[in-house]
Amino acid sequence: MLAALSLLAVALSIGRAAAFIECNVLDYGAVADNSTDLGPALTKAWTECVIPQVTTTVADNVLLFVPSGNFLLKSNVVFDDAANWNLHITGNIYLPFDASLTGTMLTFENCENILLNGPGAIFGNGYRYRPGGDLTLNPNRPRLIRFQNCNNCEITQVTLFDAPMFHVTIIGNNNVAHDMAIIASHIGETDGFDMSGNNNYVHDVSVENGDECVTVKTPTNGFVAERITCKFTAGCNIGSFGDADTTVDVQNVVYNDITQVGIVKNITYNGFTMSAAAYPLYISVFWAGNGVDTGKLQISDVTFNTIVGTGTPTRPAVLLDCNKATPCQNINFNGISLTDTLANQITNACGKGVSGLPAC
Ligand SMILES: *[C@@H]1O[C@H](CO)[C@@H](O)[C@H](O)[C@H]1NC(C)=O
Ligand SMILES: *[C@@H]1O[C@H](CO)[C@@H](O)[C@H](O)[C@H]1NC(C)=O
Repeated sequence: MLAALSLLAVALSIGRAAAFIECNVLDYGAVADNSTDLGPALTKAWTECVIPQVTTTVADNVLLFVPSGNFLLKSNVVFDDAANWNLHITGNIYLPFDASLTGTMLTFENCENILLNGPGAIFGNGYRYRPGGDLTLNPNRPRLIRFQNCNNCEITQVTLFDAPMFHVTIIGNNNVAHDMAIIASHIGETDGFDMSGNNNYVHDVSVENGDECVTVKTPTNGFVAERITCKFTAGCNIGSFGDADTTVDVQNVVYNDITQVGIVKNITYNGFTMSAAAYPLYISVFWAGNGVDTGKLQISDVTFNTIVGTGTPTRPAVLLDCNKATPCQNINFNGISLTDTLANQITNACGKGVSGLPAC
């Protein structure tokens, strides 16, 4: 097998700048019958074919290849200490419903310079794990893809459908997710991209779900998200940060050109103590088009309870910046005590509890 692959590598290298090796899962036990478990074949092809043949730092010189066809992924796969190769998915990968399935389906751990790309798709069948929207029935249902302690990795052009839990988690530095879509049920615990680490970048992606779209987790220093479309979703949040004694360190984050479509409704924030917060209480709706207020996002029923501390002397304590066509409705504040700020600035919003906010 290795000899044959080497010959293939030589043959293919004629058309390419460097050696090109394809480790096809069909040669390592996979069957495109949507029934045989793809997991062991991925591990075998990686161990026996990919690892021994990685000789350069060009990730797409060595492919762990899932060809066209329908494959069932019934077990977790962990690529630990992975470096300089490409998981190239052309086919469709399905998750079964299996109440005992947990963890993460595809994990890259301690990895460096991994490319995960399509044009294939992964179908999570998440709806089967939460019949009737019940998130408590299978609380340990599996997540889809995780890059754990990984640097210089890229995920692109693979479409992810309805993970039982979160879709893509990336922890590490200098990683990029781009030009791909996540499409899931409009329900909680379906996060699109959860990012932490330094200098990660997400661009040109679209996320439809009922939870985080592209989200920054702690610790983060340097993160950019650009040209993101969030359909339904809970938006591009920072957090959540867990218990009060968790150390939070998030710095230098930029979101550019985000389109949010759908509704944000019935949100409550309780008990924040702020220290020199840049924008202590801030709701902003993004516009599509040339400054035209399309009123695409309806925000309503948001409550802030017991928010105390200090803001920034050059910025308002409360800044609400909403659509003219669909103003922010019923934004309520109780027990707000923020000092060192400018006067509140309210555009197209109504509610009660702070000065300058008209009643609905
Ligand atoms: C493959 O199997 C999954 C899980 O049982 C199922 O949801 C999916 O529809 C199947 N795909 C095809 C193309 O039959
Ligand atoms: C708002 O959300 C809370 C928490 O999930 C829920 O208990 C409450 O019923 C919701 N209110 C409305 C009006 O939907």
